[in-house]
Amino acid sequence: MLTHRGLPRGTLVLLMFALALFILTASKLNNGIVLRPESMIQDWLHGQNPEEHSVGNQKCKDPSLDFLRSLDLSLTETFTFSRRCVKPIITPNLQRASITNISGPFFTHETETSLSSCPSTVLPPCDTLPLSVPAPYPVQQYPHLLFGVASTYERIESSLPAFTHWLSDTSAHLIIVISDFSRLPPHLTLESLETQYRSHGIHATIIPPSIAHPLPRKTETAFQTSRRLSSPAPVEQLHFLLVSDLLQHATPRTQWLGILDDDTFFPSLYPLSESLSRYPHAEPLYLGAPSDNWNSLAAYGHQAFGGAGIFISLPLARALAPNLRSCAYESASTTGDSLLGDCVGSRTAAKLTVLPGLNQHDLHGDASGWFEGDPNPLLSIHHWKSWYRAPAVSMAGVAKVCGACLLRRYRFQGDDTVWVNGYSVSRYSEGVLDKLDLDKMEGTWEGAGDGEGGGYELGYGTLRERLGEEGDGSGSGRRKRWKLVDARIDEDIKKFRQIYVWKDSENEKKGRKGKDGVVEIIWDV
Ligand SMILES: *[C@@H]1O[C@H](CO)[C@@H](O)[C@H](O)[C@H]1NC(C)=O
Repeated sequence: MLTHRGLPRGTLVLLMFALALFILTASKLNNGIVLRPESMIQDWLHGQNPEEHSVGNQKCKDPSLDFLRSLDLSLTETFTFSRRCVKPIITPNLQRASITNISGPFFTHETETSLSSCPSTVLPPCDTLPLSVPAPYPVQQYPHLLFGVASTYERIESSLPAFTHWLSDTSAHLIIVISDFSRLPPHLTLESLETQYRSHGIHATIIPPSIAHPLPRKTETAFQTSRRLSSPAPVEQLHFLLVSDLLQHATPRTQWLGILDDDTFFPSLYPLSESLSRYPHAEPLYLGAPSDNWNSLAAYGHQAFGGAGIFISLPLARALAPNLRSCAYESASTTGDSLLGDCVGSRTAAKLTVLPGLNQHDLHGDASGWFEGDPNPLLSIHHWKSWYRAPAVSMAGVAKVCGACLLRRYRFQGDDTVWVNGYSVSRYSEGVLDKLDLDKMEGTWEGAGDGEGGGYELGYGTLRERLGEEGDGSGSGRRKRWKLVDARIDEDIKKFRQIYVWKDSENEKKGRKGKDGVVEIIWDV
């Protein structure tokens, strides 16, 4: 047996040092776990060890502050902080309300705090908010869904977190056609991209385009013909040709071919699959959504728009496949969705069946009026990282806690605050909220206020006027709005955290010292 006397003094010191280091590292791993946003849902789904992320040199007294520090939100030196702790009461047959009244205020405490004084800061208690919510969606497999996307290598690579959210471990199959395959540098291979996707639990098959050059068109001139033969196939045609690419990967279990854009996002596959199941997949069906904007409809026609998601049954795909090239040859259209719509119209008897809840989202700028306007049903969103911005993956995180609770609205009678789950918390000035018709969507996006509503009534009914907001520089702010910026699960303590932030941009723009606001909603899971 060894006694410490049996060891040289140097070894003992070294051993103690190693022990101290071990304890330090272990405690940091236990308490300081913070996930990177893009890997959150992934880690959550797979129970993988989250990556460690530096949270500064000293731990805060309160885990909420440690969490905030890890997010890099560029908050002002001091900011206001409020939080509520949601106790979800799973209520399986919860009746759906456009808005749910809750007595009492949302803001039970509001403190000023700072991350730099973090170790000594003590936050007020997190008051419990019992909340009746729908049950989480059942976990199931979707081998009857076969999706297809045509896009560039780079866009597909950067879309991995979004695809992971809704496709991981679902058995749904995704076929990806890499449009710039012929121009890729040697180190970017389809195999490595496919491996990345598969390592995130996505059943993906990544393939090169089925055509090297654009398909010929009846109307092309000799000059266009010669130019065509030296050009790569355009994404639009590859999008259209997905019909035959998908057909080749169909199995006896396949029911629906979903033709998507690379930024089509489903908060969850469950409601989509439920909606599709109401239609007979053994018949030639063409399901989808037209644009929500009249101008887009006028320009492209009454057809299914790929951004919302287009679903065609196998019988329809089989009827279309032998005709795709002749359709492209004859069609006056060049966009993929129009090529498909024209081909369905000219070669089959199928008509567009609108699947409610699919959203093309031809909305530019601020789409908050839509997200806060109780969109229902909600199957897909689109353009969330281009025409407008919304943190889709973070937003949809709560759908894993309580299914159809995403974007549900709660009105707190005590302080005229409306919480839109997964999107925003808005506190209205006195008397403002009572005068608003919350059943109408607020026309916040570009063009929504033009003329009769900018051509959006067809999609969204009559819109209400945009309301000024604190910090928007209009000087007529009649509400203060905290918007969701991040949401993560903390597996260790079984909490799901949503962070909503209000930026004091008005003061910042004027070079004054501003004071941002943070609202944290912590869910028991
Ligand atoms: C909720 O509260 C508002 C305003 O106080 C009221 O007009 C509305 O009827 C209430 N809704 C329900 C379902 O109780």
